Amino acid sequence: MSTPRHILVTSALPYANGSIHLGHLVEYIQTDIWVRFQKMQGHQCTYVCADDAHGTPIMLRAQSEGIEPETLIARTHEEHTADFAAFGIGFDNYHTTHSDENRELATRIYTRLREAGHIHTRIIKQAFDPEKQMFLPDRFIKGECPRCGAADQYGDSCEACGATYTPTELKNPVSALSGATPIEKESEHYFFALGEFEAMLRDWTRGDHVQPVIANKLHEWFDAGLREWDISRDEPYFGFEIPDAPGKYFYVWLDAPIGYMASFRQLCDRRADLDFDSYWDKDSDYEVYHFIGKDIAYFHTLFWPAMLHGAGFRTPSAVYCHGFLTVNGQKMSKSRGTFIQARTYLKHLNPEYLRYYFAAKLGSGIEDIDLSLEDFQQRVNSDLVGKVVNIASRCAGFIHKRFEGRLADSCSEPELYQQFVEARESIAALYENREFAQAMREIMALADQANQYIDMEKPWVIAKQEGSDQALQAICSVGINLFRVLVTYLKPVLPKLAAGAETFLNIDALQWDDVREPLIGHGINKFKPLMTRIEKAHIDAMIDESKQDLQQTAPATPQPAADIEPIAGQIEFDDFAKIDLRIARILKAEPVEGADKLLQLTLDIGDGTRNVFAGIKSAYQPEDLEGKLTVMVANLKPRKMRFGVSEGMVLAAGPGGQDLWILEPHAGAQPGMRVK
Ligand code: MSP
Ligand code: ZN
Repeated sequence: MSTPRHILVTSALPYANGSIHLGHLVEYIQTDIWVRFQKMQGHQCTYVCADDAHGTPIMLRAQSEGIEPETLIARTHEEHTADFAAFGIGFDNYHTTHSDENRELATRIYTRLREAGHIHTRIIKQAFDPEKQMFLPDRFIKGECPRCGAADQYGDSCEACGATYTPTELKNPVSALSGATPIEKESEHYFFALGEFEAMLRDWTRGDHVQPVIANKLHEWFDAGLREWDISRDEPYFGFEIPDAPGKYFYVWLDAPIGYMASFRQLCDRRADLDFDSYWDKDSDYEVYHFIGKDIAYFHTLFWPAMLHGAGFRTPSAVYCHGFLTVNGQKMSKSRGTFIQARTYLKHLNPEYLRYYFAAKLGSGIEDIDLSLEDFQQRVNSDLVGKVVNIASRCAGFIHKRFEGRLADSCSEPELYQQFVEARESIAALYENREFAQAMREIMALADQANQYIDMEKPWVIAKQEGSDQALQAICSVGINLFRVLVTYLKPVLPKLAAGAETFLNIDALQWDDVREPLIGHGINKFKPLMTRIEKAHIDAMIDESKQDLQQTAPATPQPAADIEPIAGQIEFDDFAKIDLRIARILKAEPVEGADKLLQLTLDIGDGTRNVFAGIKSAYQPEDLEGKLTVMVANLKPRKMRFGVSEGMVLAAGPGGQDLWILEPHAGAQPGMRVK
């Protein structure tokens, strides 16, 4: 084997105010596969991560829940670690940026940058919420777009026309926190002089540390000019106070990447075989890799290497960006039920299905990857269940029943086996270069070959022939050995399936190079199905449930929506989403004795009838209503009225009196239909 490498790997730190969703998992699964592959090669590979716990959204979320931020981030930490563990993400350490290690390192890096003259201060004017008594981040200011006039746009960009601007340019701005009109206020801010690192960064960019598309992006950024980076925030803020600057805090993005080091620092303190400085010293020849989404490339390819360099640490060996997840070809959507949380997925489906599917889609580029649910089901069923697991299940029974679980004493197909062994170098190269999709294709081509071999040899026919014991054992042993090679190649992707196979094969944890020799004269255990098929019903149930858990999901980027206090009279989206609106046919409409505004309606909503009292007598003769359609709130709690129980509410439009309109019957509208 080649000399062992020393590799430190990170994934981006997820924000501590939201749940892990399938979009995040693209990254953690991609990274984890790469790390497991490196570990199987016998390298010292260490994978660390942490929660990104600081910043305004987290402070406000805690406030709105009436808890301390520390309580919120502890709760999220527990949830995140449980979710990651369930998906087989094998972090060596999972810390938080709100830690002693991170405070110490952030302070050290900042102090070194300051001593080297890279920190400047300047007074700037910023929007301030006079009611909340705090400065407002751009995303917490709303108003009309200065370019196209669209209402209700955030302070940094317009969703209608795509314009970007500063919050002071917004027309009629309001604070999204209090509804107050923001005032402008001055304050001293601390800046990191990114421009002083241009030469160093240009040099770093040339060194193969980023993907070619990102290098192009970097050149655009260089050409646009590297602006000073505002690294301070005024109190109130949840984060670390800046040394010698009372009331000023590090902006969350300053200490977030330092969280990578802090998590590693914490791990080094309990692992004698890991030495922090050997990895981070200026002239370390160990490797450090960051896996991130393309949305945060600027932070990782400009600020981060510059900060490290300026503070006398080594820079990353490489930053690897991936694209974004779409579901069924579209952005993940809460209303379509495709904004799927890790926990929701786990209730319905095996996590290894998703690990395989992402692997089958991921390359080394930054293209978005699509989770097409139909393709997902089909692909997993045909590749993993139909091809890979099937090989073992076709052979294991005979070995068990006829040969007491013992494999043949020699390999009867040395050439075929050798061909499988030789594929390991090209597959390893594909893993190394993050070309997982291509690796999966090569592995599945081998699986096809193994199945063809079994189809040709027909052990189920041989089994019935007299005196064929030796041939039967030979064929099934080849099948089992080919299966073992395939499982080895899939192990970075499917660690659980591999563990099941190791038990079945009665062997130690498979390493990459173990495949060089087949299992000969070896006793194996009884075969248990290692993976079952995906049923469509489970996917549907997951989508249905995702439509319902709109509420706890946090956005991928920090958006204030979930954290802001509603303006009086506004309802939460969740409240709205709870309303079950249905088309109803009015079967009967009758006057109500003693009530001059009410009509008693008998409504057909498809799955039965409902009795509703509606105040629309002023606009309609009862008999005119019969046969017409209306929209009804079908899940309103029944209410006892003077005249009987009302089981819902009908909707009509108009100012009232005689001007109230109910829908005319229409061929496309049927009772029971949901109203969108
Ligand atoms: N907290 C920052 C990262 C700080 S790293 C020093 C952050 N957090 S995040 O929770 O919004 O995202 C974490 C990672 O998940 C990022 O790399 C991000 O690109 C990735 N993804 C979030 N949503 C995603 C998709 N829908 N698809 C693919 N990756 C996505 O950014
Ligand atoms: Zn606009």
